[in-house]
Parts: sequence; structure tokens; C-alpha cells
Amino acid sequence: MTAEIIDGKALSFELKEKMKQEVADLKTVGIHPQLTVVLVGDHPASRSYVNGKKKACDETGIGSRIIELPKTVSESELLAHIHTLNNDPQVHGILVQLPLPDHISEQMVIETISPEKDVDGFHPVSIGRMMTGMDTFLSCTPYGIITMLRSKNIPIEGKHAVVIGRSNIVGKPVAQLLINEDATVTTCHSKTKHLHQYTQTADILVVAVGKAHAIDASYIKEGATVIDVGINRLEDGSLTGDVDFQSVKEKAAYLTPVPRGVGPMTITMLLKNTIKAAKGLEN
Ligand code: GUN
Repeated sequence: MTAEIIDGKALSFELKEKMKQEVADLKTVGIHPQLTVVLVGDHPASRSYVNGKKKACDETGIGSRIIELPKTVSESELLAHIHTLNNDPQVHGILVQLPLPDHISEQMVIETISPEKDVDGFHPVSIGRMMTGMDTFLSCTPYGIITMLRSKNIPIEGKHAVVIGRSNIVGKPVAQLLINEDATVTTCHSKTKHLHQYTQTADILVVAVGKAHAIDASYIKEGATVIDVGINRLEDGSLTGDVDFQSVKEKAAYLTPVPRGVGPMTITMLLKNTIKAAKGLEN
């Protein structure tokens, strides 16, 4: 079997075209969706991510602003900025780019952002709402993964989904979203024994281990759907995933590439969340 590739870049383009129209329609009724991104320090990777978010906003007509703060900014100053943004009716979405310098508590920052503007979906209120199946901001990478599965009508209900990774921003929320879609979900992680035993029974395998090519065809059930969340830079500067693409593509039914896979979807779902914030959450 040769896997069908789920092209995250093409799907993102399609979704952004639809969002462009939605944003234009909102503007006719006086709603101008706006995202404010806070960037602390001058970490090159963070700057590049933030620029990518701004560019995506520009492409869809969403207003965006970047607030740049020096890496020496105090926690209380940063929190004061967030309070100002919470109270600004023109700001619909707030995103503080992570990681933050060590002297600032990321958890405190996340909890200070108003849940109504939490387009990252990291606030405990957003996570609690997701766990109970309420309307909420889904964190962008898990939301992108579910959207990729839906785009190919890949059945989730009753299927065995295995998630490798248990981070707060990917592994745990993606496992919860798959449960919400009626999958039977197993979460594996660095302390899991006999990993093959779980992955070889996975109809859907989500890989977020952070190690280049860690998962090869021996881990895969014939005909599985494999979602590669990894972004690893090789010595030659190229990007690659956590999945050994060449071997797995001969065994899986669906596979996401790196680059052009989950990565572009993450930014696209941020735009979706910003539009949702502009329209307001349902109770
Ligand atoms: N740093 C890397 N990924 C993310 C993300 O999705 N959101 C935020 N706020 N920071 C990040």
C-alpha cells in the first residue's frame, strides 16, 4: 500500500480562502477580527513563528499587531500589558509567544489572558471546556490534526487512536479531542514499555515525540493513518518529522508530511480561533 498524503499546506490554503470571505462578511457588520501577539525577547525561532502568524492574518484580512518586549521585561509588566489587552474591545485574540524567559511564569501568563480571548486554547478554562465538550478555543495543533482527519473523512468513531507524547499543548489535548470524537484512545510516552505493542494496533497514530525518524514502518499497522507532529532540523538545515516517511508511506493508508503537514495547519487554526473570538463563544 502507498499512503495518500494529507497536504496540510493545500488544506490551509483552502481554509484561508473560506476565512477571507468570512472576515469580509464580519467587517460588513462592523466586526474587525484582530489578533495581538506578544513577543518577549529576540529568540530567532519565536520571531519567525510570530512573523508567520502575522503574514497569515494579513492574507485573510484579520488585523494583527505585534507587541515586542525586551527579554528583561518583568513578569508584572508583562501581566499589565495582558490586562490592558483583556480590556481592549478591539482586541479579540491574545497570544503570548512561548517560551518565555526563566524569570517569568508561563502558567501565570497563560492564566492571566482572558478565556474569551485565549486563541491559543492554553488557559485552564479553555482546556476544561474542551474536556467537557463545550464550545471553546481548541489549541491550534490538536485542532489542526482533527481538521486534517475530517478533511479526508477518515473514520474516528470506534477506532483505536494511539498518541505518542503527553505534552500539554499537543499530546494531552489531541487525545481528549479524539475521545470527544468517540475513538478509543491510548496515550504513550517516554516511559511506555513495549511501544510497538500499542502502535501496531493503532488505526490512527499521532506522533509527537520530538525525535527525527523515531517511528518507522515496524511500528505501523497496515492501512493506518499516521499524523506526524514532529519538526526536527537536520544537520543540513532541512526539516523532517518524527516519522520515517519513506518506510511508513509504503504501509500506511494516510500520512502527513513534514514540512507541508501539521505545521501550516497550526497557524491556520489560530486564524479560525481569532474569528471565533471576534464572534464570541457560545455558552
Ligand atoms: N511556541 C511554540 N508554539 C506555540 C504556540 O502554539 N503558541 C504559543 N503561544 N507559543 C508557541
